[in-house]
Amino acid sequence: MRFDVMPVATEKQIIEVEEAAFNVWHNYYKDIFSKEQIDYMLKKYQSREALKKQIADGYIYYMILADNHLAGYMCVLVQSNYLYLARLYIKAEYRRQGLAKKTISHLESIFKKPELGFSHIKKLRLKVERNNSFAINVYEHLGFKKIRSEDTDIGGGFVCRDYVMEREIS
Ligand SMILES: CC(C)(COP(=O)(O)OP(=O)(O)OC[C@H]1O[C@@H](n2cnc3c(N)ncnc32)[C@H](O)[C@@H]1OP(=O)(O)O)[C@@H](O)C(=O)NCCC(=O)NCCS
Repeated sequence: MRFDVMPVATEKQIIEVEEAAFNVWHNYYKDIFSKEQIDYMLKKYQSREALKKQIADGYIYYMILADNHLAGYMCVLVQSNYLYLARLYIKAEYRRQGLAKKTISHLESIFKKPELGFSHIKKLRLKVERNNSFAINVYEHLGFKKIRSEDTDIGGGFVCRDYVMEREIS
């Protein structure tokens, strides 16, 4: 399978990510969040308007491509001393084929390039819902460690109950 990671730049790509988010979140999160919470979070964080605002604010979205098809997406934000992996979603039919592992390795190789000036960044950080045991297992397998629990009031009467996880950039 040919693997590529490409930054999301055009309106068409933003709409593709919005569609992928809608499908993955409704299918995957139905056992973790209520439908109301999924709808609320999709509108707030993954609608095309929200994606455009995040990109303008410095979030970098990438499409994950398998044989030129959209297999998933991720989003990162450079912080002072760590790289925040804000989203990583692989479509159901592409899971457990090594795409998340390849994507994280690819991300590390991008951010280690000396010409980008991010060599001071030594850690990758992410947040994962504490009930999302599948993803937690994958992240632990990939070398992430839980560093703390964090509850965030996201408005609308909803709370995200996460673990913050980190690993060194290898
Ligand atoms: C979690 C997710 C990103 C992982 O992506 P993936 O492409 O399926 O993961 P990979 O195939 O790259 O697997 C990565 C490693 O974890 C291992 N792994 C996969 N599932 C595992 C499990 N349930 N328990 C332990 N290890 C597991 C794999 O074997 C692989 O390690 P290896 O290469 O040494 O064998 C993906 O399944 C996903 O998008 N899930 C739904 C949405 C989600 O929860 N996203 C995270 C939000 S924070």
